[in-house]
Amino acid sequence: MKNNKTIVDYYRARATEYEQIYYRDVPQRRQEIADHFEFLEKLAAGKTVLELACGTGYWTQAAAKNAREVIATDIAPEMIKEAKTKKYNSAVTFIISDIYDLPFKSAAFDLIIIGFWVSHEPKQNYSKFFEIIKKPLKADGQIWLIDNNPPAEGAKSNFLHSDESGNNFKCRRLDDGEEFSILKNYFAKNEVLDLFSKPFSINQLTHDEYYWSVLLDQKKTHLPADS
Ligand SMILES: C[S@@+](CC[C@H](N)C(=O)[O-])C[C@H]1O[C@@H](n2cnc3c(N)ncnc32)[C@H](O)[C@@H]1O
Repeated sequence: MKNNKTIVDYYRARATEYEQIYYRDVPQRRQEIADHFEFLEKLAAGKTVLELACGTGYWTQAAAKNAREVIATDIAPEMIKEAKTKKYNSAVTFIISDIYDLPFKSAAFDLIIIGFWVSHEPKQNYSKFFEIIKKPLKADGQIWLIDNNPPAEGAKSNFLHSDESGNNFKCRRLDDGEEFSILKNYFAKNEVLDLFSKPFSINQLTHDEYYWSVLLDQKKTHLPADS
């Protein structure tokens, strides 16, 4: 499959059909999503939250249930348009913004949330990506990430190829048949632990059949007693 379409083109075109992923009729899958949703509702309570790559606002709704304030960002205007059609329990501001060029000052947020993005992040970019997501976070802030395991994608693998950095590419097809080659990596539980335990302290990890989520604390640097 050869074309010049990017992951941004893909998500812009998919905005109106994106949320189908949340409503597939598989009880365990739905239950896992419901459990993560409830966890995030409680986690975000009273906090100033930044959401990156917010898409149609599915997790924004959970964060906004009890948050003080939510700033939700995505590069795709079509996704933000969908997100704005939802009702939110607390103040949500939507901003069209590239995750690699965020307009926020340092140490501004209690909690950063990122749904289904790490699996699209190129492996060779991880260190840069971690620096980007740490910067807007307060010293005692936390990051919550959720992503999916292969069973959540259904029976077909649609695997296309791997690149020299070990990234996997899959064929994704829209309802109208248009096809895109999309970088999509999966993480076993030990890979999630390996990935996040160096740059962060892992506060909590859930790794089930369909989804995993991780709650990260900024890595504590212990100063010597006499400093
Ligand atoms: C898999 S969707 C996740 C949406 C949402 N977080 C969720 O969990 O339902 C990935 C999102 O990343 C957005 N995106 C792609 N490239 C981006 C970039 N460079 N900066 C910000 N958002 C981006 C897409 O527009 C899309 O909404």
